[in-house]
Amino acid sequence: MYYGDDLIEEVRMKNDIVDVVSGYVKLQKKGSSYFGLCPFHNEKSPSFSVTPGKQMYYCFGCGAGGNVYTFVMQYENYDFVEAVKMLAERAGVELPEENQDVESRRSADFRKVLLEINKKAAYFYFYKLKQEDGKTGFDYLRGRTLSEETIKHFGLGYAGKYRDELYRYLKKEGYSDEVLKESGLITFHEAKGIYDKFFNRVMFPIMDVNSRVIGFGGRVMGEGEPKYLNSPETKVFDKSRNLYGLNIARTSRKPYMILCEGYMDVISLHQAGFSNAVASLGTAFTSGHASLLKRYTEEVVLSYDSDGAGVKAALRAIPICKEAGLRVKVLNMKPYKDPDEFIKNLGEEAYEERIGRAQNAFFFEIGILESQYDLKDPESKTLFINEIAKKLLNFEEKIERNNYLEAIAEKYNIGTSNLEGLVNKFGLQMDSSTEKRQPMQSSKRQETINAMEESQKLLLTWLIEKPQIYLQIKEHITPEDFQEGVYKTVALHLYKQLEEQALNPAQILNIFQNQEEQNKAAALFNTKLNYLETKQEQEKALKDIVLKVKKSSIDYATKNLDPSDMAGLQKILAGKSMIQELEKLHISLD
Ligand code: GTP
Ligand code: MN
Repeated sequence: MYYGDDLIEEVRMKNDIVDVVSGYVKLQKKGSSYFGLCPFHNEKSPSFSVTPGKQMYYCFGCGAGGNVYTFVMQYENYDFVEAVKMLAERAGVELPEENQDVESRRSADFRKVLLEINKKAAYFYFYKLKQEDGKTGFDYLRGRTLSEETIKHFGLGYAGKYRDELYRYLKKEGYSDEVLKESGLITFHEAKGIYDKFFNRVMFPIMDVNSRVIGFGGRVMGEGEPKYLNSPETKVFDKSRNLYGLNIARTSRKPYMILCEGYMDVISLHQAGFSNAVASLGTAFTSGHASLLKRYTEEVVLSYDSDGAGVKAALRAIPICKEAGLRVKVLNMKPYKDPDEFIKNLGEEAYEERIGRAQNAFFFEIGILESQYDLKDPESKTLFINEIAKKLLNFEEKIERNNYLEAIAEKYNIGTSNLEGLVNKFGLQMDSSTEKRQPMQSSKRQETINAMEESQKLLLTWLIEKPQIYLQIKEHITPEDFQEGVYKTVALHLYKQLEEQALNPAQILNIFQNQEEQNKAAALFNTKLNYLETKQEQEKALKDIVLKVKKSSIDYATKNLDPSDMAGLQKILAGKSMIQELEKLHISLD
């Protein structure tokens, strides 16, 4: 859906940022800003600021920042359109009807109905738990040491002995068989008739990140097969893109997530205070799960079962997590099987302590590998070391690879240079066979780019902080001189606002619809210039930055010049003489 700029700005203006953020974060006024604990990283003293004057927020700790849209996107994990919708509703602004084609509208409506059915079913099961005939279920859950509060927190429920209770209830609520068939909660069987998918089980509603019920897991009370029965995938239930407990875990403000295997593990952990625990939904961990986690955290602590199957699952999950850019540690729960049993026996402090001792995933993998070789046998040890060398090649960063290499060489008494030789040998083999590995000489180029971006960033910051310099430099530096995408866009709009003498930072942020870009732009408006002592020093620093921006702009144009582009060449020449002018220019901060 495309909304016009004016509408987007109207919605933004009608949602005061202090009001909106206060709904999520406790704020205290200090001077012209409000401060609170940052909801986007874990901290003990407040470095999260909201400035009503700018209608922006910024965290001096983690760099999160933006306008009211950014905040809602970042907190609720909405995309831009979802954020607009939510804030429009909040402020009572009517948005134009979505211009969907018939097919996608029908499908959206259908999803809505399925969500409604799932929600009603969840209430139904939850209600049952407290009825006379739900006592078996209630007792089972209490017997597993879940408190009433926990039961409520997770909306646990009970599906009774009769095999059509839910069906009858949902029929009474007016749903057609056709829709119910698609909900996955009712089975339509040619010979056996129509019956509830779940009966005589305790029920675990499964929610998406926005706490909407999308499916269920049901457990037998005691022994029986299958132990857990799960809703089939439906139009609203995608098992590879949802994680149990994530709706709660995402707001836990811990710097890592705990990934475990079962629903009961998640619930026990949350009850013990580890509200950052999640689990996959009775299926293997996928890259979809990993990228979902990456939206909320940088690090995963794997707390899979200690048995063979759990170790195997961990070995599968580690590379998937790493691929998604997550750091991984592995927690050892021995002698207990899973987090639920561990906490029941040793308590939360012991678990916390195990988190502290969780092993780096690489060492965990090497440890498992080691158990497959006999290190006393020279031949076997050689094979083992070869495997290590191959694994070390997976680290693309040289420094990181060397750190691991040294640690491993010491641990197994190999000799660093020997191991290094081996790694290089395999590296060469790989280069010639796959040509996959990139030479590492690109870092120099990266440095130049960083320096270029840095001066563009500083210049924008100066313009924002000291608008009086705009008139002096606008003839020399234009938005075209900014190459980096976000900075160029900010420059274009900032110049326009400065020209009209109507600086409005929050409006500029509307332009960016993805969070990374919003954060990057927001940082511009919250960077305090490192004030130099005297005005002369400041003026000199500013002039240096202006020169740098101009020079790198010309360099850039020169490198990318199409030899037949005469106008381009003219421009470059003009730019070069502009530099000479700039060298002589005095920029005044008065
Ligand atoms: P408890 O025995 O209740 O403590 O459960 P657990 O969490 O220890 O379960 P377990 O380790 O056996 O299984 C972990 C997860 O795998 C469960 O939460 C389910 O999602 C899934 N699972 C377990 N058993 C079955 C099964 O029989 N069928 C299916 N489809 N999934 C299962
Ligand atoms: Mn268990």
